[in-house]
Amino acid sequence: MAELFEVTELIKCLQFSCSRDQSLLKAMEQAGKRCIPVGCRGGGCGLCKVQIRSGEFDCGPMSKKHVDEESRRCGQVLACRVYPLSNLTFEYRPADALASVKQQVQ
Ligand code: FES
Repeated sequence: MAELFEVTELIKCLQFSCSRDQSLLKAMEQAGKRCIPVGCRGGGCGLCKVQIRSGEFDCGPMSKKHVDEESRRCGQVLACRVYPLSNLTFEYRPADALASVKQQVQ
């Protein structure tokens, strides 16, 4: 059985388990939690963009329109394309809030 990691969304304080072969979005849906909006589930629409705050993860392919290289380096990634390698904490904020977070990091 795949190792499970604890994943915590910091704004709503929601926690669920996620394996390394499961995306954050899929794990959230399977756990019956609602802290990230669900769209295409394929890295194309940008709805599920989150800010990773701690932990290690892998990323699958995602639209550069929604996540450019700089955003990715800052931990702003699409939850449907993020696979945890450790316990993770992250925040979901509407797109405008994420843009301001990006500016603060620069
Ligand atoms: S749900 Fe569309 S990019 Fe993640």
